[in-house]
Amino acid sequence: MKLSKRDQKHIWHPLTQHQTAQPALGIVKAKGALLWDEAGNEYIDGIASWYTTMYGHCNEHIVAAVSQQMKELDFVMFSGLTHEPAVQLSEQLMNILPENQQKIFFNDNGSTAVEAGIKMALQFHHNAGAKRDTLIAFENGFHGDTFGAMSASGLASYNAPFEDFLLKVIRIPTPQENNLDEVLQKLETAITSTSCAAFIFEPLVQGAAGMKFHTAEGLDAIIKKCQKAGVICIADEIMTGFGKTGTNFACDQLQNNPDIMCLGKALTAGMFPLSITSCSQKVFDSFLSDEVSKGFFHAHTFSAHPLGCAAALAGLELLNAAEIVEQRNYIERAHQHFAARIKNHKKIKEVRCKGVILALDLNVEMERYGSVRDALYQFFMERGVALRPLGSTVYLLPPYSIAKKELQKIYDTVEEALAIA
Ligand SMILES: Cc1ncc(COP(=O)(O)O)c(C=O)c1O
Repeated sequence: MKLSKRDQKHIWHPLTQHQTAQPALGIVKAKGALLWDEAGNEYIDGIASWYTTMYGHCNEHIVAAVSQQMKELDFVMFSGLTHEPAVQLSEQLMNILPENQQKIFFNDNGSTAVEAGIKMALQFHHNAGAKRDTLIAFENGFHGDTFGAMSASGLASYNAPFEDFLLKVIRIPTPQENNLDEVLQKLETAITSTSCAAFIFEPLVQGAAGMKFHTAEGLDAIIKKCQKAGVICIADEIMTGFGKTGTNFACDQLQNNPDIMCLGKALTAGMFPLSITSCSQKVFDSFLSDEVSKGFFHAHTFSAHPLGCAAALAGLELLNAAEIVEQRNYIERAHQHFAARIKNHKKIKEVRCKGVILALDLNVEMERYGSVRDALYQFFMERGVALRPLGSTVYLLPPYSIAKKELQKIYDTVEEALAIA
């Protein structure tokens, strides 16, 4: 029996209304930017499998590192014990993270990295004897699906049934070219009228919101104001991290460093679920005490999994390797060229690029997971291009290793969609 048929019997898929959804497509093989289904059809992975496999699927360098690690040390718990891949990864990350990041806490996925970051910020104040209980977050942000992360997220399509159970959050608009005074005024009101513990944000690009951008200057001003008021700043780089916005981290384009950073997804090049919450010495030191309870009593069984650390180390070796940098630059130029060519198309409201990210908003009203959006998704898949429109926003975030003709095929297919949309 076909995979997609067997799947339907017992599997409950994420982000899926099973009453109306098409059967899931059975994928049997992946290499580079390509996926193959069980019928032998080929697809270009235009969004690097939720922006994880940035060096291409089954990258030989990463596969070799993980295989080698598997033979030496598979797994060991991380409380009271340590191991070479984790220590080495912490050392390597120090070379590329903003200089104030000094400590690495390991988790196992993006949401748990955010959850740990929020808890660190809340306990930072608690340990100092202050009761600060409110988060500040951007409108339409996305930070994950566990309760703390979901509270910080502002997308109703994910949160609606749980609204009554969330942490206290005040939302501010993202800073654009013309609204910084208004944003800073709202921030001022939030800071003065409530006890704000932390400001959490996706730096420069809000992924799930539809690859929406905001200004580095505005974000810098917000961080500065928050830090002045003792509000811990948490940069969620789970989507933006590891080169996607043109720099190693989006925060590299800021003047003010965040106090805490969350890393996931491309950290392990999609090879293994592992995430990191890094923090400044000041945050770490606030947990030091003769009182045991002031420590951070938070753990996940698979923290610092050696296989994930080995994948991350191999990925870091590639991140700034000459051929990857060349590819990143090539994709950036190709996106800009494509954007300039299509920007005046009557079906397009806006097209924007940053690093290897290209997003275009269609002039068509679409629900985030509605039937028109689903038809567009199917249109791309039928032509061998795996893109997942976010409502009426189509975005491209290809693996750095994508071949020129593969990227061209994605552009051609988007143009074909525009012709009939
Ligand atoms: C910015 C951001 N934060 C957090 C998450 C949650 O990560 P995960 O799905 O690994 O839990 C995501 C996932 O898309 C994300 O884009």
